Amino acid sequence: MAKLLKIGIVGCGAIGSSLAKAIVSDFSEKAELASLYDIDIEKAYNLSMALAIGSQTMVSRPIKFNRKLAALNLEDLINKVDLVIEATKADTAFDIAKKAISNSRDIMIMSVGGIIEHYKELKALTEEKKARIFIPSGAICGIDGLKAATCGKINKVILTTKKPPKAFLGAPYLLKKKIRLDNIDKDTVLFEGNASQATKAFPQNINVAATLSMAGIGPEATIVRIVASPTITRNIHEIEIESDAGKIIIRCENVVHPDNPKTSYLAVLSAIATLKQVLEPIKIGT
Ligand SMILES: NC(=O)c1ccc[n+]([C@@H]2O[C@H](COP(=O)([O-])OP(=O)(O)OC[C@H]3O[C@@H](n4cnc5c(N)ncnc54)[C@H](O)[C@@H]3O)[C@@H](O)[C@H]2O)c1
Repeated sequence: MAKLLKIGIVGCGAIGSSLAKAIVSDFSEKAELASLYDIDIEKAYNLSMALAIGSQTMVSRPIKFNRKLAALNLEDLINKVDLVIEATKADTAFDIAKKAISNSRDIMIMSVGGIIEHYKELKALTEEKKARIFIPSGAICGIDGLKAATCGKINKVILTTKKPPKAFLGAPYLLKKKIRLDNIDKDTVLFEGNASQATKAFPQNINVAATLSMAGIGPEATIVRIVASPTITRNIHEIEIESDAGKIIIRCENVVHPDNPKTSYLAVLSAIATLKQVLEPIKIGT
């Protein structure tokens, strides 16, 4: 039997928990969930117990889980796995990525906004340590066309993100500018700037801006507009790309994750699809 890819998940919230369940239920022929870590250790324990109970009902391959699946710290997790999945928050993503890559582990990064300023450093480290970084398209579509277009000339990339006001709760930009969300009664532009500024201003909301800019023309040149809309229930991302190859217009209306209104369900599925691509020999799409 071929060796299973050992996977460790850092961050057992909405995305980490969904990914853990997918690894156990859909990828057990090729991968093994080898470790879980969360700064709130109970979350890792509880997830490992929930997976153990869930696996009893799986006909194909019941898995013996116990509380030992939960790692005591990040180093403990890194030691046990081939691939680290980061699903924590923007200000910890770089540190986690650096530690994983320094130990020659591959990493999938979800909190993409947290690495945007460190892109070159991480790229150099991956080359030195022979590791790879996987960045799912996340909550947006169109990364395939954008990557193809960058092989020619791109003139403009604009992202407009529209979410219900409560999705922006706690954003540093709103606190700094003293912008209140409870009295927004019509579509309101909260922010306009480039992707680099947007990811600092809204670190938990605008990972898509980081992904889009790293795949395309960079964080300084990618334009971002953020709108709070009291009339929508879905997270909407509109992308406009002008290039020598033509014009690309994308609009995603994303259902939010039931456990976290800041996170789109599509982002979870995108991470699962990326994992599938890592495990499959045939890669479809740019
Ligand atoms: N790439 C995308 O398109 C995209 C889309 C949605 C969300 N995200 C990002 O993915 C990340 C996870 O999203 P989520 O919805 O699962 O969030 P969540 O808040 O539901 O879960 C995050 C978990 O990480 C844990 N955590 C925080 N700091 C940690 C640390 N230093 N070490 C270990 N665990 C830590 C928290 O305790 C929590 O359990 C967020 O940064 C989010 O912004 C990315």
